[in-house]
Formats: sequence, C-alpha cells, structure tokens
Amino acid sequence: MIEIENLVKNYGDVKALDGLTLTVKEGQIYGFLGPNGAGKSTTILSTLGLINPQAGRISLFGREVFAGGRYREAELVRAKKRIGYMPEHATLWDFLTPMQTLDIIGESFGMSKGERAKRVRELLELLNLWEVRNKKVGKFSKGMKQRLLLAQALVQSPDLLILDEPMTGLDPKGIAEFKDIIREQKKAGKTVFFSSHILAHVEEVCDTVGVIVRGQLRVEDSIENIKNQFLKKAGYLILLETDRPISFEDVDWEVERVSPTKYKIKAPGDVRPEINDVVWKQGAKILQLMVRVPSLEEVFLSLVEEKG
Ligand SMILES: Nc1ncnc2c1ncn2[C@@H]1O[C@H](COP(=O)(O)OP(=O)(O)O)[C@@H](O)[C@H]1O
Ligand SMILES: [Mg+2]
Repeated sequence: MIEIENLVKNYGDVKALDGLTLTVKEGQIYGFLGPNGAGKSTTILSTLGLINPQAGRISLFGREVFAGGRYREAELVRAKKRIGYMPEHATLWDFLTPMQTLDIIGESFGMSKGERAKRVRELLELLNLWEVRNKKVGKFSKGMKQRLLLAQALVQSPDLLILDEPMTGLDPKGIAEFKDIIREQKKAGKTVFFSSHILAHVEEVCDTVGVIVRGQLRVEDSIENIKNQFLKKAGYLILLETDRPISFEDVDWEVERVSPTKYKIKAPGDVRPEINDVVWKQGAKILQLMVRVPSLEEVFLSLVEEKG
C-alpha cells in the first residue's frame, strides 16, 4: 500500500530523512514509532505529496507517485482519493457542530445530500459522537476532538488511513477508545498507518511496527519478532537456583555467581535444556530456572539509543 525507498529529505542542514525505506502492506495496522524529531511527520507529509523530498521513491497502491526528485501529479491525485489523513496539528471549526463539520467535508468530496446524511450518522455513531452531534465543537474535550478529526479522515471511506500522532494528548481512556476504533477499521478491511513517539500507543493494537531514528528505519517487523531479534542480539539472561553449588567449567556462557547456589547466566540463546544437563550431570537439582524477557520498553529504548 505504501512503499518508500531510500527517501531523502533535508531542511537546509537538517537531515530529516536519511535514506528511509519502509513498507506498509494491505490490511496492516502499522505503528510508526520514533522519538520526537526522528522524521515521522516528514515521512507522512512526503507520502501525501505535501512536501518535496530530494531523492528516493514512493509508491502508493502499487503505483509510483514520487521518483527522480518529483511527484507524478496524476498518480498522486488518484492515490489520495483513497487515503484518509489526520494531520498532527489539525484544527477544527469551533463554531460548527460535528454534524455540520462532517457534512461540509462530505460535500467537498462531491457526495450527495442523502449520501452525506447517511455517512455522517454512521461515523458519529461509530466514534461515539452521536449524542453531541448538535453541540459546538469549541466546547469539546481533547478526546472528542481527536475522534471528530478521525471521523473527518473517514468521510469518503478511504482504503488507507494515515494518522500522525492520533493518540498524543489523550488520557488512558481516550487511548483505549481510539485503539478500539482502529481495530474496527482493520476488521472493515482498511489499512492503517499511524505515527507515535509513545510505545504504549502502538502496543496491543499494531500488528507491525517500524522504528524510525534520525531519519532511518531501524527495524520493521511484528512486535514479537522485534523482541526475539533483540533477545538474540542482547543474549538471554537466565536465572538459576540449585540445591547445591554447581561448576560451570565446560560451558562458554557468561556465568555470574550471585550466591553459592544462585547464578545469573548470559547465553546467546535459550540454553535452558543445556543448563538442565549440566546440573543433572553433577547430581544436583534445579530449584528455579527463569528466563528474563526484556520489556518492550527496554527493546524500544535500546533501538533508539543504539549508535547510528
Ligand atoms: N519545516 C521545517 N523546517 C526545518 N526543519 C524541519 C521542518 N520540519 C521538520 N524539521 C526538522 O526535521 C526533523 C524531523 O522532523 P519531524 O518529521 O517533524 O519529526 P517527528 O514527526 O518524528 O517528530 C527534526 O529535526 C525537525 O526539527
Ligand atoms: Mg511529528
């Protein structure tokens, strides 16, 4: 759905995108995660043809929209009809009601009055705004405004949703509601690409995560695979307790003796079966054997802090 290859965008001396490569496949809920200033918004603006990168390629729905330093306008216009976009710093008309707001957007897409009425009701119900449909938007909470902004992006029933930091500034309840709505989009067969600088926003709801750091994609995979890769690289940390002291002479793992019968073992993989053997051969018994799995937060931080 979105294929970005070696994209470069400099703002003067600032390298915002430094050869970014990324792929979003149909039906995915893709969390685009990275610290502030990493280049997330620049990537999204490039995808929508709203800024001009210097080099690289962008394809949308399998058709090239940017290459050789320029956009193909006709292809871009065609692709954008199928994209719903929620910008990072969006504004709403405070003096309008949600009903009026969505109706105007529908009109701008050339929908008939009847179509609009049906679609607006559908969206207001989906986003829990039906009860406040006739209230002025200016009085809305942050969460209600975010939901209305998402409704705006959904008016023309786009196949692909691109959301820039949609959950930033929401409270935990607002985040949970927003995640539910995103899941419903997936069920309806849509593809969702959304950015965030907060790990908790992509957790649970995304099936794929891409981590961007200083304009480059560090990893792109399922959360499970990212964790496993990290484990392989960082090594497994295994905690062992036995009923009597054990000798670890013949193994090449890093073993730290915490107490006469407690050990911290660092190994390149999950060596629990081998540990079992070592202990058993020495006629001892295992009292406790645990693998400490890193939290997602640790994995994310290590990716972000890793030197380029
Ligand atoms: N219009 C701009 N002019 C100059 N520098 C910019 C502009 N927009 C973004 N940048 C810089 O480009 C880098 C990436 O920014 P951005 O894409 O907004 O990151 P993110 O969305 O991940 O926080 C940052 O260093 C930012 O300061
Ligand atoms: Mg941003």
